[in-house]
Amino acid sequence: MCGIIGYIGNDNAADVLIEGLKRLEYRGYDSAGIAVLQHGRIEIRRSVGKLLHLEDALKKELLSGTVGIGHTRWATHGKPSEQNAHPHRSGNVVIVHNGIIENYLAHKRRLETAGYRFQSETDTEVIAHLLALHMEEGHSLEQAFRATVRELHGSYAIAGLCVSEPETLVVTKSGCPLVVGQGDKAAFLASDVTPLLAHTRHVTFLEDGDIGTLTPLGVTVTGVDGHPVHRDEVRIDWNAEAAEKGGYPHFMLKEIHEQPQAILDTLRGRYSYDSGEADLPDLAITPDQLRDARSIWIVACGTSWHAGMVGKYLLEELVHKPVQVDIGSEFRYRNPMVQEGDVFIALSQSGETADTLAAAREARRLGAYVLSIVNVVGSTLARESDGVIYTRCGPEISVASTKAFTGQVMALYLLALHVGRVRQVLSVEDGQWWLDQFMALPGHVERVIKREAEFVAMAHRFYEKKNFLYLGRGINYPIALEGALKLKEISYIHAEGYAAGEMKHGPIALIDEDMPVVVLAPRDRLYEKTVSNLMEVKARSAPVIAFVSESEQELEALADCVFRIPNTHALLSPIPFTAALQLLAYHIATLRNIDVDRPRNLAKSVTVE
Ligand code: AGP
Repeated sequence: MCGIIGYIGNDNAADVLIEGLKRLEYRGYDSAGIAVLQHGRIEIRRSVGKLLHLEDALKKELLSGTVGIGHTRWATHGKPSEQNAHPHRSGNVVIVHNGIIENYLAHKRRLETAGYRFQSETDTEVIAHLLALHMEEGHSLEQAFRATVRELHGSYAIAGLCVSEPETLVVTKSGCPLVVGQGDKAAFLASDVTPLLAHTRHVTFLEDGDIGTLTPLGVTVTGVDGHPVHRDEVRIDWNAEAAEKGGYPHFMLKEIHEQPQAILDTLRGRYSYDSGEADLPDLAITPDQLRDARSIWIVACGTSWHAGMVGKYLLEELVHKPVQVDIGSEFRYRNPMVQEGDVFIALSQSGETADTLAAAREARRLGAYVLSIVNVVGSTLARESDGVIYTRCGPEISVASTKAFTGQVMALYLLALHVGRVRQVLSVEDGQWWLDQFMALPGHVERVIKREAEFVAMAHRFYEKKNFLYLGRGINYPIALEGALKLKEISYIHAEGYAAGEMKHGPIALIDEDMPVVVLAPRDRLYEKTVSNLMEVKARSAPVIAFVSESEQELEALADCVFRIPNTHALLSPIPFTAALQLLAYHIATLRNIDVDRPRNLAKSVTVE
C-alpha cells in the first residue's frame, strides 16, 4: 500500500520528507515523489523505482522550502511511471493519496468536461482537480478540501497544500491509516508512526471523516461538519522496527490482520449491485469469448495453486464449465491439451514466479486467452497477460502468503460471478445475493481474528508435535492443503493436507495419539461424511482439532479442540477457514521460536526454476 508523509515547520522540508519516506519503504513501493512549496511555487520531484533515484533528482536541484508532502506509491490504478507517481497537482494545489477512489471515473469525466486536463492514469489525480475547482470557487484551502472530500467514495488518506496558504497542510482519512504529530514549531503527518518517531513520540491517530489542519503551531482536527473534534494524543514507545510492523511482532501477523481490509479493497468498486454483476474492466475478455471457451485452465504454484483449486470448485459450481487446475512446474513440461480460445488463468502474488510465467507463455503459444490474478501491479505476469485482475492487498512482505491468498480467492469469486452472469447461469437476484455474501466476508474474517487467543491456547497444546494431518472435503480440500503448507513452511513441522475421503486409501495408517488431525467440517452437503472421517481418526486416538460452522454443537464431545467459524455459504467458507488455519500455524511457529517472516530455505518470490 502507498505511504504518505507531510511536514510544515522551519527545517528543510525536502530533507524531512526524504527521511520520512525512507521509514515507509518497508511498505513496498514502485515509485516516489515529493512536493515542496518554495518562493511561492510548488516544486515537484518524482521518480520510478527506489528512493535513491528521487534523491539523485533532488541533488541536481536542491529545494529549500519548509512545507511539503511526499509519497511512496504501490500502484493500483495505472502502471508504475513518473506520470502516475504522486504528488499530483492541479494549478496551485498539490496532493498525495493512499487508497482507492471508487467513483473517480465519474469525476474524471465531469472534470474533463470542465476543462481540466489529466496527466496520469491514476484515480488520485481526480482529487487534485476537484480541490482546484473548489479553490477557484473562492473557498479557503480547508473549506475547499472539505468540499472535495465530501464528493469522494472509497478508501483514502489524503494530504494537500496550496500556494495561496503556505502556512497550512490539510489531511483526511477514511479506511486508510493516517497519523499526525507535533514537534518544536512544526507539525508532521504520515501513513503510520515510523516517520514521526524521529521527531516526536506523541502522536494522534485520525479517525474516518476527520479533517486535520496542520500549521507550524500545531494540529487542529474537525469533523466532516466542520466542528472541532477531540482526538487523544498517544505516546509511542515502539522502536523503528516494531513501528514498521505496526506494533505486530511479525509482518505475517500484521498481514493476517490486514485481510478484512484486503478483501474489501479487492472487492471495492468492482461490482454493480443493481444489476447483480461484477465489474472487471481490466478483464479484456468478451462475453462471447467466455461463453465459447471450451476449457478453463488455472495454473499457479504453492499457496496460489491452492487458491486456483478453490477457483475450480467455484467456476464449475457457478458457471458449469470444465476447469483444469495444475501446478506451474508440471503444466509447463507436460503436453497440455490447450486449444485456441481456451481461457488460461494464472494466479501469482508476485507476478514473477518462474514456473507460472513459463506456463502462461506456453498457454499463450497454444492459443489461449491469458488472464492473470496478481498482487503486484506492473509485474512480468501482469504485463504479459491479456487481462488482469489485481488483488489490492498492498505489499505482502512475510514469506508465507496470507492476505494475497484471500485476495486471490476474492478475485475468483468476482470472476465466477462475472462468468455466471455473462453465461446467464446466475440471475440478477442470484448476483445480488452473492454480492451480499461477498460484502459480509471481511466481517467474518474479523470475527475469526478477534478470537486469536483460542489459537494461542491450541498452539500451546500441539506445538511440540512432529506431524500433523489436515483433512477437508470439496472446496475445503484445497484449504486443508493450504493449512498444512502454512504450518510446515513456518514451523518446520511435517504436515500433510488430504482429501478427507482419501483416509482409507493410505493416510489412516499414520494415525496415532501423536498425530494431531485438523478437520475442516463446515455445515455443507459433505458434513456428515466429514464427521465420519473425524470419528475414524478419533477411534485411533489421534487428537482432533475441528473447525466447524458457528451453529455446530455435536462435535464438542468428539473433538479435542473445536473452533467455530462464522456461518457462510459453503462456497464462501474457504476464506474464514483459511484465516483460522493461518493463525493456528502462526502461533505454533512462534512457540517454536522460528523467524516466522523469513523461514529457512524459502524466498518470497521463486523467480527461478
Ligand atoms: C506461500 O506461503 C509460499 N510462500 C509460496 O508457496 C508461494 O505461494 C508460491 O511461491 C507462489 O508465489 P506467487 O504467488 O508469488 O506466484
